[in-house]
Amino acid sequence: MTKLLLAVLLFFIAPLTANGKEQVKIIKTQCEYTDSPVGIDTSHPRFTWMLGSNVTNTIQKAWQIRIASRPELLSEGKADVWDSGKVIDKTTRIEYKGTNPLQPHTCYYWQVTIWDENNHTDTSAINRFETAKLQPTDWKAIWITDRHDKEYEPAPLFRKEFDLTGKISSARAYVSGTGYYELFINGKRVGENYLDPGYTHFDKRILYVTHDVTALVNRGANAIAAVLGNGFYNCQSRAVWDFEKARWRERPRLLCELRVTYADGRTDVIATDEHWKTNTGAYTYNNIYSGDKYDARLEEPGWTTARFNDAQWMPARKTGQPAPLLVAQQMPAIRITEEIKPVSMKSFGDSIYVFDMGHNISGVCRLEVKGESGTTFTLRHGELLKENGRLEPGNIDVYYKPVKPGETFQTDVFILRGTGKKESFTPQFSYHGFRYVEVSCNRPVKLGTGDLTGLFLHTDVPQAGEFCCSNPLLNKIWAATNLSYLCNLHSIPTDCPQREKNGWTADAHVAIDLALLNFDGLTLYEKWMNDFIDNQLSDGKISGIVPSASWGYGEWPGPVWDAALFIIPNALYNYYGETRTIERLYPTLLRYLDYLKPLEKEGFLTFGLGDWVTYEAQTPNEYTSTLYYYQDYKTMARFAKLLGKDSTPYQQKAEQLKQLINEKYFNTETGVYANGTQTAQAIALYMDIVPAGKEQLVAEQLHKAVTGNNYFLNFGLLGSKTVPAMLTKFGYVEDAYKMITKTEAPSWGYWVETKGYTTLAETWLLSPEFHDASLNHVFMGDVSAWMYNTLAGINLDAEHPGFGHIIIRPHFIDQLDWVSGSYQSVRGLIRSEWKRENGRIKLTVTIPANTTATIHADKVYTVGSGTYHYMIKCD
Ligand code: BGC
Repeated sequence: MTKLLLAVLLFFIAPLTANGKEQVKIIKTQCEYTDSPVGIDTSHPRFTWMLGSNVTNTIQKAWQIRIASRPELLSEGKADVWDSGKVIDKTTRIEYKGTNPLQPHTCYYWQVTIWDENNHTDTSAINRFETAKLQPTDWKAIWITDRHDKEYEPAPLFRKEFDLTGKISSARAYVSGTGYYELFINGKRVGENYLDPGYTHFDKRILYVTHDVTALVNRGANAIAAVLGNGFYNCQSRAVWDFEKARWRERPRLLCELRVTYADGRTDVIATDEHWKTNTGAYTYNNIYSGDKYDARLEEPGWTTARFNDAQWMPARKTGQPAPLLVAQQMPAIRITEEIKPVSMKSFGDSIYVFDMGHNISGVCRLEVKGESGTTFTLRHGELLKENGRLEPGNIDVYYKPVKPGETFQTDVFILRGTGKKESFTPQFSYHGFRYVEVSCNRPVKLGTGDLTGLFLHTDVPQAGEFCCSNPLLNKIWAATNLSYLCNLHSIPTDCPQREKNGWTADAHVAIDLALLNFDGLTLYEKWMNDFIDNQLSDGKISGIVPSASWGYGEWPGPVWDAALFIIPNALYNYYGETRTIERLYPTLLRYLDYLKPLEKEGFLTFGLGDWVTYEAQTPNEYTSTLYYYQDYKTMARFAKLLGKDSTPYQQKAEQLKQLINEKYFNTETGVYANGTQTAQAIALYMDIVPAGKEQLVAEQLHKAVTGNNYFLNFGLLGSKTVPAMLTKFGYVEDAYKMITKTEAPSWGYWVETKGYTTLAETWLLSPEFHDASLNHVFMGDVSAWMYNTLAGINLDAEHPGFGHIIIRPHFIDQLDWVSGSYQSVRGLIRSEWKRENGRIKLTVTIPANTTATIHADKVYTVGSGTYHYMIKCD
């Protein structure tokens, strides 16, 4: 362990000054955790703001919010929608409490004024938010489809021409389409989103998206058009999760309403109905696990523009709304976040080329080629190559069970029209997990690296954290974790972007800290937790994947997986101080606990998965299942208290479970839990069930299990979350570091250094011969959260949710020269950096406004906002 001489040479608080004036400033305002949302559907939106300050110890004393129908009114001091008045309160998150109900399709303007404890004040810039549909009756559009059966492969196209008769001041398109839609107005693709709407239980809830299309419409003749993909709504091929038997499965459907407002105040509504025309075209096949097929010879030029002759097209068919809930999509969209040029290309004969993107991504490729009509390009995507350099899909295609000849895993097909010019193809209705792309052609062709571009597609969550240190291996692991996380974000958090694309529940909850420390994911998880409400059966059961068409509801995933129900809302509360998910989910949680109760066997839960994909050591599943059961109740007690309900029964049940586990699994003399595996020891400490006074003994046994194994890890996903954290907490941080920086198997370093993987693997010992292991799972990635918490020392304080208090506790590991970590919290930027300088450690910490922090340097300091420097002498 690093021994510090613990002498402060300098403790210096550096007040920043701007123009010599002390100031508090509102640096950011958001509505529904989005900068200026255009399509919210909640009648009580949330408003949040963030303070910046150039003086230390800034605390907000009061706030006042004002909302108006026009921005000028705010400038004149007239808030005609809501004026909260000055409220003495520290909060920076409030809900709409005006007496005027918000109206649909309406843009509102708002600003907030704050006062700090020294009566300095600031008023934010005017921001805006816009409502979409607030009631089902706000919709004029009806759902439409075509006349084909759900087995019919070509994608349905829809179109409608219309005239606009005046100067246009704004236009909005409210759109949904099951499984996915791509929308065009006057020949232009609407927006930059991909794979919209987000994946939900399509018979319970469907999302719609609002697009600002003012720039796309014009006076006179216009056309609006859409093509629909199958997605998870209409899986036409078989895979083990039974999506082809989904109860919601139907031919894709479209709902679209274009509202145009003229400068003179008039409104025109162009809405889907049976007067829209439909046909099929070049999109001949699409499947979420397989890919897209596009035959450009079947394209009817101009079908998305006005004055196209659609006389041969059929009228669309009116159909029912697929789900009772039609909800605004309020999370970042899936977008292309990076265009990647292949790092190399190898040819095999004159018609097969293998491209290497340099690292794993989730997404698709754009192919730009020239050739004769009928030239067919097949793009196969994978993570590995065979020894001969050709694509090896064997580690990821195992659960796909194609029945028809064309259903090839992660494969897109493009047939050229033969225009004499370069033709471009980008799949629209699927995505793949891949590093390598094998492109083959039905005739000899010459390709170069410039012909193919990788498009990295994922839910575009803003980055919140950054970490870097003097050990490049840790930086590599951190980067691989973030890449794996983003590759696994497609409107739900998934297990892997290739083989499954499923919302595996434990994968998400073990990754929740790395997720929220690295990315601002609140709205994404709020959406996903709604999916749990829809997922629950009437007996309270939930499935191991969410959403699910019917698969995974048995007892086998079990309580450790289901614990996402509690862990994720709890994390949203800890990181954001946000309780909306807890409020919404509360009845679901009660029903779930009622479902588990009769399954107890002498108080224990004996079923379910445990320390999944462990290296070798097996920890008893009854022990881990019952531990998570205990944690469910403990969390439920917290939630009940928070919502002003009686928490006693949950607290009591948690206490009983703790006792029961300790009686059966704890050896009070030796300090060993269960069979003494690394996971068994660490998880007892992590869950805080160890009888008072015995914690260090249990930690010693954990330490022994690690040192006795030559500092090698020996666990699966539960150990990966708890072992490094508990070694650290109980004084063995240097040993945790040793484990984390190993490069022989099993270790993270083995993956990213020795094997050169760019994302985290699913199993510790993957090899190409082992045909069921992805190279892009994030569930072993909590080590990235450990880097923030332990090395930079940035920690939340669960007693003060939403970073109402911050704990900075860096560990100055002997082998590290410097560490730098920052995290954009709901209060503002937290930064912690340290470096060695002439036998001392220089620590610099920044704490945002309106909060306090406890900083563990040479001794413990309690501070308010500001930047602080410490010089710490060490051996
Ligand atoms: C998934 C995992 C998941 C597990 C549970 C796997 O196939 O990829 O990440 O949690 O199954 O059974």
